[in-house]
Amino acid sequence: MQWPLMRNNIVREDLDALIAHLKSDDPMLTQSGNVRAFEKEWSEWLGVKHSVFVNSGASANLITMTALRELRGGGEVIVPTLTWVSDIASVLQCGFEPVFVDIDERTLGMDAEQVLKKITRKTRAVFLTHILGYNALTDGLLKGLKKAGVPLIEDVCESHGATFKGRKLGTFGLVSNFSFYYAHHMSTVEGGMVCTDDAELYETLRMLRSHGMVREATSPEVKNRYAKQHPDLNPDFIFAFPAYNVRSTELNAVIGRTQLKRLDANNERRTANLKLFLGGLDAKKYRTDFAVAGSCNYAFTLVLKKPDPKLWAAVEKTLREAGVEFRRGTSGGGNQLRQPYLRKVVGKDAWRKFPKVDHVHFYGAYIGNYPDLEQERIRELCKLLNGIKA
Ligand SMILES: Cc1ncc(COP(=O)(O)O)c(C=O)c1O
Repeated sequence: MQWPLMRNNIVREDLDALIAHLKSDDPMLTQSGNVRAFEKEWSEWLGVKHSVFVNSGASANLITMTALRELRGGGEVIVPTLTWVSDIASVLQCGFEPVFVDIDERTLGMDAEQVLKKITRKTRAVFLTHILGYNALTDGLLKGLKKAGVPLIEDVCESHGATFKGRKLGTFGLVSNFSFYYAHHMSTVEGGMVCTDDAELYETLRMLRSHGMVREATSPEVKNRYAKQHPDLNPDFIFAFPAYNVRSTELNAVIGRTQLKRLDANNERRTANLKLFLGGLDAKKYRTDFAVAGSCNYAFTLVLKKPDPKLWAAVEKTLREAGVEFRRGTSGGGNQLRQPYLRKVVGKDAWRKFPKVDHVHFYGAYIGNYPDLEQERIRELCKLLNGIKA
């Protein structure tokens, strides 16, 4: 079927915009007006006050956790067992203790009740991931976090445009993170965005993106405060934090700006594709009861209803023979606690405490859902999958 995980995600129109930029007289290449314009347009699209464009979703995670640590101090961060490595890595790199939560099988996101049960006096944030386009928020979770005074941080790297009660994911938390890696809803080749309504966080994130430099702040008040406190320093070179350089470039922002114009239309097609896929699967063999309300997926989730090694082996064989690319484990390869980088931290058997994510780890996968995927092929794939006999 020649069905890759992603196809045609950066198109001629994007490349033409890039060429036009390069053909202009003495074009700026490093972070400048296009980055600023992309941040503004993205903030408008999402519905937040501030956005900071960085060079990847992992960098978005890293400066978010660094800002949390700088502004709120160390402690525990409640994290998912199913997510991308950089969500957990950034928590560890910033010296927080990760506290893990199993998944809700219908959203693949964190189980809201478990999240609330794990809040302690040491909790500094809940760092939630919306997995493969499914909303992981519930009223109960938002109310519980508000009551406990614990900030929510949303990783929306896999869910651009998805909503909860009609409002875009990434606008509920104190901060949210997006990725523009090629395989996602829209791409700047590599890239990421950190979004917030909080002015202090915004200034901190801007500094953290660029070596911790105070001159990167937009607020004259912040700049004056540092200059007054440090009269021995050149105001152009005041480093407030031991930070990073995770800036992107004008070239990536030019692509992002043309991509953003097509995002909503592409997402509509993806949403229709997912409904067709889940609607076409045999509900006795596969999970078809995912919480699709407000979802917006760049991948189809294929998860066995019950553990069945023989059936799963047959599914993998069928997909391979048909030329359908897939990733077992769904997001990030499944149960993070089984990964060597985490076993060292949490112990080699800690994964046993999270049976639901372990099911997806062995009996789940994702398959590409790109805008120009023909519906006929989706029906054909469902037929193929439904016909498998273990
Ligand atoms: C949930 C999640 N967070 C963060 C990232 C990291 O994004 P990037 O690949 O742009 O570094 C990914 C990447 O796929 C992701 O799926």
